[in-house]
Amino acid sequence: MGEIELQTKTLPSPITIVGCGPGSPEAITLAGLRAIEDAAVVVGAPRLLECFAPPDAAQVPVGVDVETALAAIARHLPEGKVVVLVTGDPGISSLARPVLRRFGRHACKVIPGISAVQAAFASLGLDWLDARLISAHGRMPDITVDELVRYDKIAVLAGTQPAMQWAARVAEALPHFEMYVCRDLTLPAQQVQLTSADEIRQMPAAGRIILIFVKKGILS
Ligand SMILES: C[S@@+](CC[C@H](N)C(=O)[O-])C[C@H]1O[C@@H](n2cnc3c(N)ncnc32)[C@H](O)[C@@H]1O
Repeated sequence: MGEIELQTKTLPSPITIVGCGPGSPEAITLAGLRAIEDAAVVVGAPRLLECFAPPDAAQVPVGVDVETALAAIARHLPEGKVVVLVTGDPGISSLARPVLRRFGRHACKVIPGISAVQAAFASLGLDWLDARLISAHGRMPDITVDELVRYDKIAVLAGTQPAMQWAARVAEALPHFEMYVCRDLTLPAQQVQLTSADEIRQMPAAGRIILIFVKKGILS
């Protein structure tokens, strides 16, 4: 840890964490693109590297294991500007938090991106200042139905099978809500559909699904 802090303090530029948007190459910001273009090393999921890494930068593919990703970043720090690509916005369930924690805020610059959550609410024409965001992406959420009924809008990041099963149970417990499944947002296969607890239970899990729960009447 101490060794890594020493390394980052002598870096020519900070680690730059770029939010790449929900999937479409058109949904990254200009600031994000500019931050990537002079990278010496680009770290990220293979799909993001394929989409955004400049041809002359070293590409470091990382998977879901956070410690492995952090070790890869540390190894490449001496090579020059390291850019870490994350899906959506770095502020929502991304590698940004562990990177900031490991290397320190002084050593990192964060470029925001369009979150899949924003894309989901936009697809329904809904504002979301008062929404409850829930990530069921990794660990299942620790939240009761009594707490959930206090909100008019709930967004569930639900890209896994256990997440879909959890969301189906919530849907059953909230009969005065409508549920929308928002899939592959910003991509050519984008689908936004009214759904039900039964459909959610039977839906095959896919990495790119957000479920929006809206109190009945709000969207009419
Ligand atoms: C690890 S989280 C990352 C969220 C990301 N930082 C953001 O702001 O959108 C991954 C989850 O984001 C959601 N997601 C990401 N891209 C999506 C897309 N194009 N369409 C629908 N959901 C998406 C899914 O719920 C997926 O399980």
